Amino acid sequence: MADWNTLFYDKKSIEMAPEPEVVKFIELLAKEFSNEQEKKVWDLGCGAGRHSVVIGKMNCEVFISDHSAKAIELTKEKLDDNKIRYTEALSSMENYPWQEKEFLHGVLSWAVLQHNTLDKIVKSINCIYESLITGGYFLGTIKSTKADLYGKGQEIEKDTFILDVGKEDGVPHHYFDEEGIKQLFPDDQWEIVILAEQVVNYVSTVEKFWEINPFRYTTWCVLVKKRWEI
Ligand SMILES: C[S@@+](CC[C@H](N)C(=O)[O-])C[C@H]1O[C@@H](n2cnc3c(N)ncnc32)[C@H](O)[C@@H]1O
Repeated sequence: MADWNTLFYDKKSIEMAPEPEVVKFIELLAKEFSNEQEKKVWDLGCGAGRHSVVIGKMNCEVFISDHSAKAIELTKEKLDDNKIRYTEALSSMENYPWQEKEFLHGVLSWAVLQHNTLDKIVKSINCIYESLITGGYFLGTIKSTKADLYGKGQEIEKDTFILDVGKEDGVPHHYFDEEGIKQLFPDDQWEIVILAEQVVNYVSTVEKFWEINPFRYTTWCVLVKKRWEI
């Protein structure tokens, strides 16, 4: 059974190149908070740190968290190599990891929140909400029920599956339909700036294509803004 610590010892499991959306997200924060000297951004579920470095290089103060000690170690190495200052937390997503509240301008969580049961995903979103200043932004990707692996493995609760094959064997995946993803970001707390379902239809693939796949997978893309107090 795989867990994230084990996966991070296998170089094949480590994505190296950052996603271009993350650069655009930091540009958005720079524009929205142009009066602030330094933007504070949390890379929640930082993995091996490909985005944490981009965030730091784009003049933000970096906050990293992950529940895998190996992930934190790899990210710290990258940040240290690039002389980027950071604050770290070894913590599961549903637990609030910082001393301060309402202090961040942005939170990024790329392909992370889906790795839990629904109650803990809801708690994680609450942690993100608590960490942001009003007007702060969250950018994330979260699995959609249209994804190829939806329904595969053992269903431990509605729409949460534990795969029994492949490199993520043993890792839970929760999938959201449109109604479910909207419920995750209630209207009285969040303004949905962009909610996009990116659907990739794999028409023909060789066996184990995911080992060499250069293309994207089906996912929800979420950009939301913490509402001003109402
Ligand atoms: C697919 S990787 C994405 C890593 C990184 N965001 C990126 O885009 O490169 C998923 C990450 O989520 C982390 N993760 C999984 N479950 C978690 C949990 N319950 N709490 C915190 N991090 C978790 C894993 O350790 C891993 O780093």
